[in-house]
Amino acid sequence: MQDLNGIGLRARSLYCLISAENAIPSQGLRVKLIQVSTKLLLENPKMLKLDGYQILSAIYNSANSIVYRGIREQDNHAVILKVLKQDYPTPAELTRYKQEYEITRHLNLVEGIVKAYSIREYHRGLVIILEDFGGNSLRMLLNDLRATQEVMSLEEFLPLAIQVAEILGQIHSRNVIHKDLNPGNIVLHPETGQVKIIDFGISTQLTRENPTLKNPNVLEGTLAYISPEQTGRMNRALDYRTDFYSLGASFYELLTGKLPFTTTDVLELVHCHLAKQPVTPHKLNAEIPLAVSAIVMKLMAKTAEERYQSAFGLKADLERCWQQLQTTGKIDSFPLGNQDLADKFQIPQKLYGREQEIETLLAAFSRVSGHLSSVTSHSSQEQNKQQTTNDK
Ligand SMILES: Nc1ncnc2c1ncn2[C@@H]1O[C@H](COP(=O)(O)OP(=O)(O)O)[C@@H](O)[C@H]1O
Ligand SMILES: [Mg+2]
Repeated sequence: MQDLNGIGLRARSLYCLISAENAIPSQGLRVKLIQVSTKLLLENPKMLKLDGYQILSAIYNSANSIVYRGIREQDNHAVILKVLKQDYPTPAELTRYKQEYEITRHLNLVEGIVKAYSIREYHRGLVIILEDFGGNSLRMLLNDLRATQEVMSLEEFLPLAIQVAEILGQIHSRNVIHKDLNPGNIVLHPETGQVKIIDFGISTQLTRENPTLKNPNVLEGTLAYISPEQTGRMNRALDYRTDFYSLGASFYELLTGKLPFTTTDVLELVHCHLAKQPVTPHKLNAEIPLAVSAIVMKLMAKTAEERYQSAFGLKADLERCWQQLQTTGKIDSFPLGNQDLADKFQIPQKLYGREQEIETLLAAFSRVSGHLSSVTSHSSQEQNKQQTTNDK
């Protein structure tokens, strides 16, 4: 297998890809994945043989897909080939791949989205053939930075973040919710600095959907970046603003080198997204200006109403930071969201004007729970008494 990056980089990347790009596995599973990744390095992943394409190297290998770099022979065009990994994919997996292809096609005119060229059957599965503009995922970049204990500078971060905000605005304006923004799904060209978004594998073309309560091990999305409402545990409909949360978590990692929540316990992680505030980026690294830190925290607000309401509002704030940095060499704080106007009509999912009814419900709840706790403490007193009598 021809390897463009060298075995060292690939070793590190494969290890990190497998351990970090999937939903955070439980401890036992993590150990298993690390062993699998080492095995993969020794035995190169199964090479793809597809008529009309020359395969150069495998760049990603996960439980679901293998991604290769290759050349389309008819015109010598660089391509990416994303292959369903299972030998016997289920109808649901096949449908999902087809849907991913359809949604990406639907967005083919957006410059900042990797184009889908075609889809082909391959054995019992499918291969999606995608644009290769010479970029690598931010996950790979983060892994390299982590190896040298560096973080991204503001000069690198801001132009990148502005591009991502612009692309996200275009995705949302076509009524698509990405639902899986994370550094593995943002690709950056190392020389030109051009950014593109990939992986519409779980995206939807609905403006709103109701997530259901699922086992966290099968939650859609990458758990370290998933929004509270996308966990299905908030009794809230999901809309495009879920992407702002995941983007905030990705920005957080780019700026600080750390995830907002570092636990590897699946349920605890879900709880953190629902109820805990991450340490602000500025506190982790005092070189991050307060304004930039505040933008990240606004993106990661627990309820969608408190986040940005439009990608263009976010982009305007990022541009203001970038302008300040270029002209004065520093970034002063300013009120965020000045140009943040939602272009979609939103009915807030809060109850308004029902104060009295809420009061009555809360009072009833505390009466009942007070009664319950007195029942429990009474019965535990009884038990203790019983125990003491038995002991005698
Ligand atoms: N067009 C592309 N250009 C560069 N790298 C890509 C491209 N498509 C995929 N990759 C690489 O493959 C990885 C997995 O692709 P992705 O579509 O996100 O698969 P999955 O659905 O398994 O997450 C990405 O994180 C990235 O490293
Ligand atoms: Mg992905």
